[in-house]
Amino acid sequence: MSDHILVERTEAVQVIRLNRPDKKNAITRAMYDAMAKALREGEADDAVHVHVFLGSPGAFSSGNDLQDFLAIAMGGDHGDNVWEFLIALATATKPVVSGVDGLAIGIGTTIHLHCDMTFATPGSLFRTPFTDLALVPEAASSLLAPRIMGHQRAFALLGMGEGFTAEQALDAGLIWQIVERDQLEDEVMAAAGALEKKPPKALQLAKKLMKGDREPVLARLREEGELFLQQLKSDEAREAFMAFMARKK
Ligand code: COA
Repeated sequence: MSDHILVERTEAVQVIRLNRPDKKNAITRAMYDAMAKALREGEADDAVHVHVFLGSPGAFSSGNDLQDFLAIAMGGDHGDNVWEFLIALATATKPVVSGVDGLAIGIGTTIHLHCDMTFATPGSLFRTPFTDLALVPEAASSLLAPRIMGHQRAFALLGMGEGFTAEQALDAGLIWQIVERDQLEDEVMAAAGALEKKPPKALQLAKKLMKGDREPVLARLREEGELFLQQLKSDEAREAFMAFMARKK
């Protein structure tokens, strides 16, 4: 397993930590694989009651690795890595708690639409520059974000690419609570620790009732995935990725 994803267990809590701080936790295909595997294994293991996602100080994630996007845009194989991860996340039956400090870009934001409780620090920034990169929303965000925050706010986030502060994310219902930076991991683990002690079956049933039918979510994932791939291979997307690569030269 890539050491860019660290998986640890504490009692009945499985922590999946993004650990590529030098690249602001940009997510590579190997990282998606590792996260999908951890989610699947945690789901299959009765000893795990709760999943947790954490990043690094200053960066939950800068989103999909743009080098990987460029490789696909240049004709490379796209693989199933993101797809497998999103399916595992969208169908997780156990509660998912997440903690954000700093950057939450692209899928670094949309991942939390699937989480059950997200904590973020005051300086966090949630932003999805999909359209600037000539891409479309992913992770079923085009369905889930309008449901959670209403069309106009979702459009500002997903269409306009507006960055949301932690306050705005709280107001929009994207996160559960803002906590101080030095408290983040303690608060996340305290919530996960409280959840792990509850009767697991009842908790899973409660989540299932609240999340509702997964089929429309899976259908939207597929629809977005096809358009995303089509756009990834467009000239305008290729130009956007190359501009990012060239920006410091
Ligand atoms: N993919 C690949 N590498 C990335 C990355 C990404 N999504 N985000 C950041 N990095 C890399 C940078 O290339 C840089 O690498 P280097 O030190 O080898 O040059 C390193 O991470 C640090 O990033 P840097 O841009 O120097 O940090 P910053 O604090 O100035 O800016 C961001 C951080 C996240 C705002 C900026 O890197 C950015 O806009 N990244 C792209 C985000 C994005 O569009 N994600 C896809 C969404 S769909």
